[in-house]
Amino acid sequence: MQLKRFKPGMLPDYGLFNCDRLSAVREEVQYSLRCLPSPESFLPRVYNRNRNTVIAMSDIYEKIMDLAKRRGFIWPTSECYGSVAGFIDYGPLGSMMKRNIENAWRKFYIIQEGYYEIECPIIGQEDIFIASGHVKGFSDKMCQCPSCREFLRADHIAEAHGVTGASVLGTEDLARLICSLPCPACEEVLGPVEVFNFNLMFQTAIGPGSQRRGYLRPETAQGMFTDFQRLLRFYRDRLPFGAVQIGKSFRNEISPRQGMIRLREFTQAEAEIFVHPGEKDHPAFSRYEGYFVPLLSITRQEEDLPPVNCTMGEAVREGTIANQYVAYYLALTHQLLVSIGVNPDKLRFRQHLPDERAHYAEDCWDAEVFSDRFGWVETVGIADRTDYDLRAHERQSGERFSAFIPYDIPRKESRIRVTPDMGALGPRFRGEARAVAEALCASIPGPDGLTVTIGGKPVHITPDLYTVKEEISEVPGTDVVPHVIEPSYGIDRMIYAVLEHSYFEEMVDGEERRVLRLPPGIAPVQVAVLPLMNRDGLPEIAREIVDGAREEGVIAEYDDSGAIGRRYRRQDEVGTPFAITVDYETREDRTVTLRDRDSMRQVRVPVEGIGSLIRSLVEGRLSFAGL
Ligand code: GLY
Repeated sequence: MQLKRFKPGMLPDYGLFNCDRLSAVREEVQYSLRCLPSPESFLPRVYNRNRNTVIAMSDIYEKIMDLAKRRGFIWPTSECYGSVAGFIDYGPLGSMMKRNIENAWRKFYIIQEGYYEIECPIIGQEDIFIASGHVKGFSDKMCQCPSCREFLRADHIAEAHGVTGASVLGTEDLARLICSLPCPACEEVLGPVEVFNFNLMFQTAIGPGSQRRGYLRPETAQGMFTDFQRLLRFYRDRLPFGAVQIGKSFRNEISPRQGMIRLREFTQAEAEIFVHPGEKDHPAFSRYEGYFVPLLSITRQEEDLPPVNCTMGEAVREGTIANQYVAYYLALTHQLLVSIGVNPDKLRFRQHLPDERAHYAEDCWDAEVFSDRFGWVETVGIADRTDYDLRAHERQSGERFSAFIPYDIPRKESRIRVTPDMGALGPRFRGEARAVAEALCASIPGPDGLTVTIGGKPVHITPDLYTVKEEISEVPGTDVVPHVIEPSYGIDRMIYAVLEHSYFEEMVDGEERRVLRLPPGIAPVQVAVLPLMNRDGLPEIAREIVDGAREEGVIAEYDDSGAIGRRYRRQDEVGTPFAITVDYETREDRTVTLRDRDSMRQVRVPVEGIGSLIRSLVEGRLSFAGL
């Protein structure tokens, strides 16, 4: 099948599977590479099992994308019409793997943390995004190459040529900077080009007649903010609480040429944790207090130092991380990413530099994953967003976005009450008496009275015109606008990272074996059941095993086509962690061969109970080595 078809006159849209112009792509992604280690130190390895040799593998991206396409993980979307960059289809195995990763995320956020999941619309009305700042400020700096007419990210061009912090420069400064640089698409010098802001939101109309403007959400977070009061009620008016959401978000990227790393439609998994602004100690901090995370703090970036492993307790005590909540979710994120198959040696947490951090954020860290192709890629953002979002919606909607926090013991508060003597004020001030009374009530007079301005003139009010009394009242609590801690995960980037970090090539008995060493819980197929022969009652036993495994909730695949060695390789390539072979011995003693993908070791186990055995292996309650 033809992968891309360009209509006459149409410019190519460089998509996921197009490997042309590699150098331009590489150049463009350099903007995200801070503190890049020597590339060799991260080149994926090919392990030659027979010769015990390891070979550096440099074209892993092409290999993974080829595998992903061939085996039904990821496909270019709507290929028959010439795919559009920034959109992908997840094929059967990709969808399954994605669901497994989302469910691994849910295990942490819903089961461990106890936060409930909500689901809000993908299309939001304009007010939401006026409040959030997206209508005004969610834009990238764009220009169009005068020679090839390609739309380009102006800041990326500048940064690819060594300019740091180009994304925060103004349009005119950027235009001056890039005029002498070559277009990354056609390599002609850009010359005097206009740089303008391009809003990344997809706009739509709600209802007929385009009366109501809507946008495809650029993040799932806003739904949790706009539902704040409902959520607060749901959690019985107590802080802290959290809400989570997994769903599609949309950003109309200017020229997405980085495959799964920069999509126009992507899946986010976000948690919004609403906390008391004065209480940022996490109630379960002890869980991660001693947990080590590789931190690349602002100071270490400024001093050009590599990340350092630090416990979360130490990082908070030393002030590297702003508070326990942020530290807690850094550690949880590390644990989650490693559990789904991210290589811990290719994972670091980089603190946002002051010029890239949102002005309202108290602290912000990115979990960055190293990719052979893309360098360090931001995959998760963890931020303390303070009360910015809730206050913004309070202003825009006029509704209350605060929580009433009762004091442990009601507090006594004294209040000075000034009561104007209207009988005396009326004759003295006539038409201005009401204004004088209002001014009195809003102030605390001194011993000689009070001077206020009425109608632009100073007016002195003597103490005989009012009474002052101290009143003691009982105050049960106070209203606070909570602060928000937000861990935000890019699911598609996580999937790409797991694929890249799990991909290995080995020489086994003189033949190449491609294997995805996916954690069993993430693998799209968890067990393959293979009858050695397609006759003599072996397929029937194999199907019985498949049914038993499925009854246990295990994702099982029956495969009887081709030689057994080829079938093992097919399963290895898609990461199936276990394979069961039904052979002639099975007919005699009801035992089968159970093969482990990674060690390729085999053990004989009884057919009876094999479904629950596989489930225990997949869930990690049992190890293959322990069989
Ligand atoms: N909610 C944070 C983000 O989408 O980047």
